[in-house]
Amino acid sequence: MTSHTLNELLAEGVRGRHVLVRSDLNVPLDGSSVTDDGRIRASLPVLQKLVDGGARVLVSAHLGRPKGAPEEKYSLKPAVDRLAELAGFPVSLAADTVGASAQDLSAKLADGEVLVLENVRFDPRETSKDDAERQAFAAELAALTGENGAYVDDAFGAVHRKHASVYDIATILPSYQGDLVRTEVEVLQKLTVSPERPYVVVLGGSKVSDKLAVIDNLIGKADTLLVGGGMLFTFLAAAGYKVGSSLLEEDQIPVVQDYLARAEAAGSRFVVPTDVVVASRFAADAEHEVVPASAIEESAFGASGIGLDIGPDTAAAFAEHIRGAKTVFWNGPMGVFEFEAFSQGTRAIAQALTETDGFTVVGGGDSAAAVRTLGFSDDQFGHISTGGGASLEYLEGKELPGLSVLDR
Ligand code: 3PG
Repeated sequence: MTSHTLNELLAEGVRGRHVLVRSDLNVPLDGSSVTDDGRIRASLPVLQKLVDGGARVLVSAHLGRPKGAPEEKYSLKPAVDRLAELAGFPVSLAADTVGASAQDLSAKLADGEVLVLENVRFDPRETSKDDAERQAFAAELAALTGENGAYVDDAFGAVHRKHASVYDIATILPSYQGDLVRTEVEVLQKLTVSPERPYVVVLGGSKVSDKLAVIDNLIGKADTLLVGGGMLFTFLAAAGYKVGSSLLEEDQIPVVQDYLARAEAAGSRFVVPTDVVVASRFAADAEHEVVPASAIEESAFGASGIGLDIGPDTAAAFAEHIRGAKTVFWNGPMGVFEFEAFSQGTRAIAQALTETDGFTVVGGGDSAAAVRTLGFSDDQFGHISTGGGASLEYLEGKELPGLSVLDR
């Protein structure tokens, strides 16, 4: 089974037709300014193609996790302002999602104009567990397209959500896969179906428990798994080391021990840090020192020391693995990169990815934001995924509702 593509829709002709596009405009904000516009930029090409084809484009999207009612701080306005700045076509924002404003502005759309609907999560039916509720909301979204409407899913970051604007809508309108979704899936397929070896996976981020399924799935597939970020301390504890006041998920220690044992048998190797940066407290200006991973509590801060980054020896060793790889997937920062003093590990990994001849994929909202915050540009990497949870769930081998619903 295959999905119909955007190009097929364009070949059918879209002039004068309302086309509803699900985009992922869920970007990080600082007040009302967008701090990483990667997802907005990634959404532009599909909108541009539809505008060029003369479609009347409606965009549905979410921002954050509002509780099913409008809330100013979750308005799509900052994202839409940024979209309008970047776009070479007219973009406006409805004051609601499927209400009077959306209906009125949608009816008035001219060929080649784009109207973004307010945050779909302002309506509780978007994320409802009740199929009938979601279907009813999706039917109202579909109704905005009038006669001869179509739906394009371009929100790769949301394909793992069985939500009305991602899943149910595709059961109502003729549906097509957007180019961003297509590219993301092709890239992730390269990682899952016979990746070129050595295949090195770099895993960071705070919690082991968030990454369990993906780690489980990568054992036996990746040649080397480099472990950093907050979860490294659970790996160190599993090896019998004391970790002071660092982030530790004690209940995951047996799980990690099982991974280590299984990996050895399956031909995958976990590489755990040999040194870490320990700080007196969790703060940008905290005193800090580098200590061996086996001696965290022997720093000047004793048992109250908190590990906030991988150390320089570890960063150099990880970089060497990465530079020698033919395929690299990286998910999750190595340390608290938002604080300059604890950003060196993440920076070293990003730098190494830019220096390998292999195919490199940066996955996950945090890692994507990290590379841009640290001054790297998108074209220094093979691919920067717009999917956080979605790319992980793809690698876990899960069926993603937003993808399967497009298959027919
Ligand atoms: C993301 O940020 O990964 C996507 O936009 C999905 O958001 P969600 O995790 O709130 O569903």
